[in-house]
Amino acid sequence: MSNKNSINDNLIQIKEGNSKIYIYNDDLDAIPSKSMSVFYNKKMEINRDITSLAIQSYYDLYAKDNLVIVDSMAGSGISSIRLLIECKNIEKIYINDINPVSEDLIHKNLILNNLNEDNTKIKVMRNDANLLFNKIAFKSNHKKPNVISIDPWGTPNYFIDSAFKAITKNNGLMCVTATDTAVLFGVKPNVCLRKYMAKPLHNEFCKEIGTRILLYFISRIANINNMGIIPLLSFYSNHFIRVFVKTFKNKNLIIKNIKEYGYIFYCKKCGHRFSVENKDLKNINICKICKSDIDLNYAGPLWLNKIHELEFLNKILMLNNKSDFKNKNRIQKILEICQDEIDMPPNYYNLHKICKKKNCASIPKIETLIEIIREKGFKASRTHFDFISIKTDMEIKSLENILSNYNKK
Ligand SMILES: C[S@@+](CC[C@H](N)C(=O)[O-])C[C@H]1O[C@@H](n2cnc3c(N)ncnc32)[C@H](O)[C@@H]1O
Repeated sequence: MSNKNSINDNLIQIKEGNSKIYIYNDDLDAIPSKSMSVFYNKKMEINRDITSLAIQSYYDLYAKDNLVIVDSMAGSGISSIRLLIECKNIEKIYINDINPVSEDLIHKNLILNNLNEDNTKIKVMRNDANLLFNKIAFKSNHKKPNVISIDPWGTPNYFIDSAFKAITKNNGLMCVTATDTAVLFGVKPNVCLRKYMAKPLHNEFCKEIGTRILLYFISRIANINNMGIIPLLSFYSNHFIRVFVKTFKNKNLIIKNIKEYGYIFYCKKCGHRFSVENKDLKNINICKICKSDIDLNYAGPLWLNKIHELEFLNKILMLNNKSDFKNKNRIQKILEICQDEIDMPPNYYNLHKICKKKNCASIPKIETLIEIIREKGFKASRTHFDFISIKTDMEIKSLENILSNYNKK
């Protein structure tokens, strides 16, 4: 962490992106948790970097108007302050947190960055996020926000419905973080069923399943509010998932989306996996590869469609390239892999797992393996969910053969 300056016994000044903020001294080295005076997690800087780039990209590509932003769980205000400094065309920003100590610190942090609260552009609030969304949704003389950010502790599920009631119905941008990854990744399957209305699976590609369950949940709640979503970027990093989705209200497209939700099947005996859309669902209980009738399990319902939009990723990469973020290289790596995975199947193979099963002495470089698979006429790419896994439409047995033969050379 750079530029630490103590201003009194309680507060310390740090720098992030192009902004400065005070955080509580005791919170600086604490494990990020609810017991902090005001939440701040330096490991989430990359989340805020990408959020800043995503909102700028959204403005350039899709916003029809200047930005009205709701940062509904602002903590120290760091994200909002960075947006005010890094993004152009912000018409209004609501900086909200339920914690009174946060509210007080946000005021201090705005002053520290010479951001003037006396104008109509910046509004600091202390509300429950749902209450805030409802106030905004039902105030007829207010322009609806085109950007809403939800960044809670744990699950965002309680906040999605009221956020959809508040946001612009067409071309709005919803930015949602989930940190309850044990739930979404299938360690606590019953909690996932209860909170996200979908069954997870704790297997080698559970991070992607969890992300797709989150997208399904967000999309379903959009649907009951007469909206649909287009995921622009969905990523996993440092034990959190963050998704950026654009809203639309075309009813035919909503129905198309609903038919395309579905299930992912996985055979824990042989590793075979496949997905089935709702509209094609029939009784499936035997693995077609190993014929096991007890090892085939499923996850879902979940989002099976694309989880990123190429033009959005291109734009973020371009802006990242011009930025001076210290996570610049890491962001570029994640985003380039996201580009590669766009048209790939919704799962991935962990190479260590396959090599262990096949007793392979060595694992080829991922780039080499991707080349071999492509030469055989199949699709292959890396995945940002797991840097030791690959995505491919090749079946497990053929992949195992490639890895075994590679070791015989
Ligand atoms: C993970 S922190 C947010 C961090 C912040 N966005 C950042 O980038 O540093 C979650 C925040 O949500 C706030 N919070 C929790 N429940 C809330 C609610 N129902 N309404 C509004 N804020 C809430 C907490 O006080 C906490 O500051």
